[in-house]
Amino acid sequence: MNTTHRIYFKNSNEMSELSPDSVDLIITSPPYPMIEMWDSLFSESNYEIKDALQEEDGRKAFLLMHYELNKVWKECVRVLKEGGLMCINIGDATRKINNNFQLFPNHVLITNFFQEHGFISLPYILWRKPTNAPNKFMGSGMLPPNAYVTHEHEYILLFRKGEQKAKIPPKLEQRYNSAYFWEERNNWFSDIWSDLRGTAQSLINGIPNSSGAEDEIRERSAAFPIDLPYRLINMYSIYGETVLDPFWGTGTTTLAAMLCARNSIGYDLNPELGRIFELRLKEVKILSKKINTERLEAHISFINQKTKLGKEIKHENINYGFKVNTLQEKELLLYAINNVTIKNNFYSVDHEPFYLE
Ligand SMILES: C[S@@+](CC[C@H](N)C(=O)[O-])C[C@H]1O[C@@H](n2cnc3c(N)ncnc32)[C@H](O)[C@@H]1O
Repeated sequence: MNTTHRIYFKNSNEMSELSPDSVDLIITSPPYPMIEMWDSLFSESNYEIKDALQEEDGRKAFLLMHYELNKVWKECVRVLKEGGLMCINIGDATRKINNNFQLFPNHVLITNFFQEHGFISLPYILWRKPTNAPNKFMGSGMLPPNAYVTHEHEYILLFRKGEQKAKIPPKLEQRYNSAYFWEERNNWFSDIWSDLRGTAQSLINGIPNSSGAEDEIRERSAAFPIDLPYRLINMYSIYGETVLDPFWGTGTTTLAAMLCARNSIGYDLNPELGRIFELRLKEVKILSKKINTERLEAHISFINQKTKLGKEIKHENINYGFKVNTLQEKELLLYAINNVTIKNNFYSVDHEPFYLE
């Protein structure tokens, strides 16, 4: 199997390279309105934002920042196929304006936008981020009432464009090969994710000294952990489909699409990020083998435990010969990355079925 991956360093408020209804899935994380690290980016796109921030008119700045994001969301509405899913990782912002500590609920404005544009809201996921900051509580300490709850989660908002995909041929082999394990389903489809591996942890095993650098990149670029797009791609698309990230950053979505044998397209304003992506790409073959091995070994251990407990498992996977909990997992098949080449400014990836050694 072969997949292609295209990256455009330009503003995604005009994705003229993409036809209407051409993308199967969108996974992205925009700059978060009212989070200080993105003030200058928003201010460059509209000087009124800079003025509003200087005048400490928080509400005006907040709305204007969303007005900028909406230009990209409009393009997403255009290019996503009917029945396709839109997954947006976003955090709300907390900030002191005019000496008043307050929350700017980014997830609310984004939800309103997609509902107003005919998308259907699906149950979202809360990504609970581990923190061990000692001074995480804000406000008046132990004296009521001016102490504030700490924000330690972000949202993964899920919207569908129109009706549920109705036209999938009932016996489409690719779809059955794209199945995930029953026990993965139980974890991935829960509404709180607190076990996402960071970029560093998953890329790093066996690659000495890269952890510090990776952490720094993540810090500066606000990259999400590779597990986040990896899971969403497995949950909401099948082999060979196309995933778009209009706020591409360091290309985590593209790396995950490569790992999942899906095509991808990315847009970002900052061409310098391409170099960071190239560094990460060097590790993608190792990562592919590592993730596939871990998934298969975890499944074997899950089945062994069940068997030990005397539970009968009826079904067998035809590609691996091990037992599976349901008939839907019978044709599940993982692909590994065999080779990555660059052709005419896009990446071409060769994938082959993966088996344990
Ligand atoms: C939160 S970061 C995305 C991080 C990414 N998920 C990753 O894992 O590396 C947001 C990115 O959006 C880009 N960006 C912001 N506005 C944009 C626009 N209008 N068009 C294209 N890229 C944009 C920024 O340059 C930044 O890299």
